[in-house]
Amino acid sequence: DLPSFVKIVEVGPRDGLQNEKGNVPTSVKIQLIHKLVAAGLSVVEATSFVSPKWVPQLADAKEVLKGIQQMPNVRYPVLTPNLRGFEAAVAAGAKEIAVFASASESFSKSNINCTIDESLVRYRDVTAAAKKHGLLIRGYVSCVIGCPVEGAIDPSKVAYVAKELYNMGCSEISLGDTIGVGTPGSVVAMLEAVMSFVPADKIAVHFHDTYGQALANILVSLQMGISIVDSSVSGLGGCPYAKGATGNVATEDVVYMLHGLGIETNVDLNKLMEAGEYISKHLGRPLGSKTAAALRKL
Ligand code: HMG
Ligand code: MG
Repeated sequence: DLPSFVKIVEVGPRDGLQNEKGNVPTSVKIQLIHKLVAAGLSVVEATSFVSPKWVPQLADAKEVLKGIQQMPNVRYPVLTPNLRGFEAAVAAGAKEIAVFASASESFSKSNINCTIDESLVRYRDVTAAAKKHGLLIRGYVSCVIGCPVEGAIDPSKVAYVAKELYNMGCSEISLGDTIGVGTPGSVVAMLEAVMSFVPADKIAVHFHDTYGQALANILVSLQMGISIVDSSVSGLGGCPYAKGATGNVATEDVVYMLHGLGIETNVDLNKLMEAGEYISKHLGRPLGSKTAAALRKL
């Protein structure tokens, strides 16, 4: 049974733009977020309050968050790696934060410079502070299928990190196939392991399309009861700490598939494509979704 509604979490302004070599002006980021919300997306990850030494692309996090006109009923989560980032996010008006752990020790080290367990200790402080402020919390697990250094990741490791994040108060656990190596077989095994600790309605799937498997992986996830899908307009993205990772699955392609399946999203595909065109034009690159490329040729 497929869900009748899927909530799409648009991560392009964060997961996408964190990986751009050229400088994207703050005003363009803000415009992009406004366009995505205008297209009907109810969750748009806006930016990250991380170290600008690590991710200079998002050094304007405060200006971006303060610059967007927050609409009621729209969520604008921001990544916060530590209490310092949390406090800066709250000061800039964040109402939802995201903490990001990994199922791979090597990736944890290269992405946030600490072990998995050290990150969980840190996130306990961040989530406690967030709960005190009444903020919503997303919890990410990266490298849920494979790691660029360690290769295949055991589903039990993913389940462990997901369970810890869920128990510390994350209301949504996003499972990231950071390097896009998953196939429906490995995705089902991973989801089964996580679902023994986290209910299906609290799980989001976050696929990168490196091997062209993302839509197939989303479909099997839906068949297993998942109804929250992360994606990135025009397939923006990659990961600065995961060599070879290409973009997230394109939101346009996800919407096209879901609507084709008769699943509602509240997203207007035309307006979404306009947002994709806006940022693609700005970055000087062709449309990163097959759907937009096809429909624009008709
Ligand atoms: P560190 O170097 O181990 O720790 O960084 P530190 O405490 O020594 O901090 C280094 C410098 O950053 C210091 O500055 C701090 O003050 C400053 P200095 O004293 O040298 O001038 N600093 C900060 N500045 C602003 N905001 C902060 C902050 N914290 C420290 N919050 C740290 C540790 C976690 C901070 C660093 O490693 C970091 O920022 N990492 C973030 C990396 C990142 O954003 N990666 C991409 C997101 S994850 C992802 O893409 C996966 C995901 O999409 C899912 C998927 O695709 O699978 C979620
Ligand atoms: Mg990602």
